[in-house]
Amino acid sequence: MRLPSSLLRSSILRVSDHPWFRRLAGSRLGRRVASRFVAGETLADAMTAARELRAAGIDAMLDHLGENVESPDQALVARAAYLSALDSLAAEPGLGGAISIKLTQLGLDDSIDDCWANLVPILDLAEANGTLVMIDMESHAYVDDTLEILRRAAERGSSAGVALQAYLRRSERDVFNLPPGIRVRLVKGAYLEHPDVAFATKREVDASFARLFSTLLTHGHPIDVATHDPSLVEGVRKRVDDMPKGWSRVEFQMLYGVRRDQQSRLAGQGYPVRVYVPYGTEWYPYLTRRLAERPANLWFFLSNLLRFSR
Ligand code: FDA
Repeated sequence: MRLPSSLLRSSILRVSDHPWFRRLAGSRLGRRVASRFVAGETLADAMTAARELRAAGIDAMLDHLGENVESPDQALVARAAYLSALDSLAAEPGLGGAISIKLTQLGLDDSIDDCWANLVPILDLAEANGTLVMIDMESHAYVDDTLEILRRAAERGSSAGVALQAYLRRSERDVFNLPPGIRVRLVKGAYLEHPDVAFATKREVDASFARLFSTLLTHGHPIDVATHDPSLVEGVRKRVDDMPKGWSRVEFQMLYGVRRDQQSRLAGQGYPVRVYVPYGTEWYPYLTRRLAERPANLWFFLSNLLRFSR
């Protein structure tokens, strides 16, 4: 019997929360397997990945891994990590680098004001360096606060952009309330969500993705089409090819280690492509989302653990 993909996906996300799975994944062997999706544990590793991507005609967006910090000090460490990343990117402007941030890493669970206070120095340095800042969208409980932070950033004159999730039913309304002209990264959505708030089938999510893309295009937003889905990529490619100067405001984005064939093919054909490059020691939650997106990854992960442990 074939399980529906949303059921399989939610089962994987649930199992991965279990302590024995965490222990397995956190082992040295687990790290080795995780390296398929994570550039390394240090900023130097991420910069090496960014240089390799640039050599292949692809831009990078660095993500210092971490989310849901448990103390104000941890949020300060994350802030410092992003300021260092901005310094490194400014020293190599040819890389076309950008950064991507999760707000719960900067203290959003404590308060929106604490998070904002941690974000401002990052926005200011990025603005001074001319580096793009994107804000990831986390689970649906954070959407209102994330959009509020985005509004504050826009009022401050920042060009920071935000991710919008096609699986969330509310995105069809949110898309009309974004600050004008703000950059939007359109994604399907990676968290475990209840059907009350999120579409559960691929067909519905893909249809929502296509509708949101059209709305963002009509409203003049720069759009990062962040998917590996070949049919969505092809639909966007055809549509934007037909628009005068279309590619000045649309780019493809994919994840480090995912569909490298498609990344190089599009870049080789001259399309703008950027890869999200995660790095750092807090890779476990990121890895579990990648495993859940494609059940074959779980098999890859487990079979490698078995192979390496023999
Ligand atoms: P889909 O899951 O339908 O996959 C299409 C094809 O892509 C698969 O058939 C397979 O070939 C390949 N593929 C997809 N995922 C894979 C994987 N993990 N391993 C191997 N192959 C895989 N989400 C979120 O909630 N908030 C965010 O801020 C972001 N940010 C973000 C940035 C960027 C640059 C990307 C590309 C994605 C995100 N995401 C995200 C994740 C996103 O929501 C989504 O979970 C993944 O991109 C997988 O969905 P696809 O759109 O690729 O389609």
